[in-house]
Amino acid sequence: MNISIFGLGYVGCVSLGCLAKNGHNVIGVDVNQNKVDLINQGKPTIIEKDIDVIIAEQFQRGVISATTKAAEAITKTEISIIAVGTPSTPQGHLNLKYIFKVAEDIGKAIKNKNDFHIVVLRSTVLPGTCDKVATILEMASGKKRNEGFAVVDNPEFLREGSAVQDYYNPPLTLIGSDNKKAAERVADLYRELPGEIIVTDLKIAELMKYVNNTFHALKISFANEVGNVCSALDIDSHQVMDIFCKDKQLNISNYYFKPGFAYGGSCLPKDLKGFQTLAHDHYVKTPIVDSIGLTNENQIERAIEMIQRFPNKKLGFLGLSFKAGTDDLRNSPAVRVVEALLGKGAAISIYDKNINLTMLTGTNKDYIDARIPHLSKLLVTDLNELVSSSEVLIVNTNEVEFVKLLRNVTDKTIIDFVRIDDTLLERENYIGINWSIEKLNKENYVSNEDTVLK
Ligand SMILES: NC(=O)c1ccc[n+]([C@@H]2O[C@H](COP(=O)([O-])OP(=O)(O)OC[C@H]3O[C@@H](n4cnc5c(N)ncnc54)[C@H](O)[C@@H]3O)[C@@H](O)[C@H]2O)c1
Repeated sequence: MNISIFGLGYVGCVSLGCLAKNGHNVIGVDVNQNKVDLINQGKPTIIEKDIDVIIAEQFQRGVISATTKAAEAITKTEISIIAVGTPSTPQGHLNLKYIFKVAEDIGKAIKNKNDFHIVVLRSTVLPGTCDKVATILEMASGKKRNEGFAVVDNPEFLREGSAVQDYYNPPLTLIGSDNKKAAERVADLYRELPGEIIVTDLKIAELMKYVNNTFHALKISFANEVGNVCSALDIDSHQVMDIFCKDKQLNISNYYFKPGFAYGGSCLPKDLKGFQTLAHDHYVKTPIVDSIGLTNENQIERAIEMIQRFPNKKLGFLGLSFKAGTDDLRNSPAVRVVEALLGKGAAISIYDKNINLTMLTGTNKDYIDARIPHLSKLLVTDLNELVSSSEVLIVNTNEVEFVKLLRNVTDKTIIDFVRIDDTLLERENYIGINWSIEKLNKENYVSNEDTVLK
């Protein structure tokens, strides 16, 4: 394919060399004449392992060149990759002026082109940026999005220092687009690379890099906090984290990675507190560990606030324990939610097949007696009875029996903490604790007494 790359920095230079090596004709565009001259002499614009050889070889083959003139590059190519910088502003926002300038340059250049043009954002940008780029392209070109051109997001995951190695070994290739054909064309650029090619929504692709890098920063900082506690105790932190990483079921795995409700139960809150106290007693600061409980509290408050958006409605809780398949009510976040709502005068019924009050003993019984002493009056033993007597159903545990039931209940508002069943997502009267939430913000959705989701 004939490709133009705007921005010949780390990302642009590596993409230029590697795409050419994989059989494409590539023209680089940069406002910096010095970088353009380097490419036109067969030299890289950056210091990076192996890129000098790749650029020299591809230059010899006559498949790479560079220019400062956007129009010249656009005329000769069918895909343009934007890889200009997106630095932070002093206020911490993303400075998109380079992206928008390139979008304008490309827009003006495609005005006089008959062929369909694909614009790919390789730079790291926040959700919504591709839409803004499309608007600029429409204004500058006079063409319509998805008629004269398409915008695709294709975030770069390489790391400086191992950029070429990373280019050829991506964990995955991510393509966000609202145009299937354009997405397929961009996917064709990467077919020979290992790793899955994932085509998804534009905004998901735009957000991914931020989620990844935030998690990477969290990993480093978590390991450092554990390390600092270990060294205070004269324990080898590397041995600890090596063993930690060997657990591929709960630690290094998909487990515990689904957004939803707060954690609870008898172990996580207790052991988190234990670790915090240990650090504190040894004068070790652990701000990340300390903030975990705050995030959990925030999730409980979020749930309470969501339910309060439906004032004076009869509430039916599906599940009360901290997870499905147990009667353990200790530190169940749902108990906290019910307790808070009862305090505000809410009418509540609860169904949880695992809870038999006469069987509750020990700390489990003490916990519930202290928080909801009249729980027996709220418990309902028949699930259908709970549904018919409630106006808003709150799904707290992932029990199989709830799925079947909820698929057939279409006239009740459902607030879901556990993402019980994806087939419910599109319903107007369904909201998840951190998905499908936009419905809650629609003006006509939540207002007064009579507001029911229909
Ligand atoms: N460097 C990395 O390791 C890395 C990794 C993944 C993603 N990214 C992201 O990729 C993007 C590019 O990063 P980088 O490190 O390659 O940036 P960079 O600063 O090294 O290069 C950007 C280039 O864009 C050029 N440029 C600016 N305005 C231009 C215009 N109007 N027309 C043409 N060229 C123009 C600049 O002269 C410069 O050569 C950023 O969004 C960055 O966050 C970077």
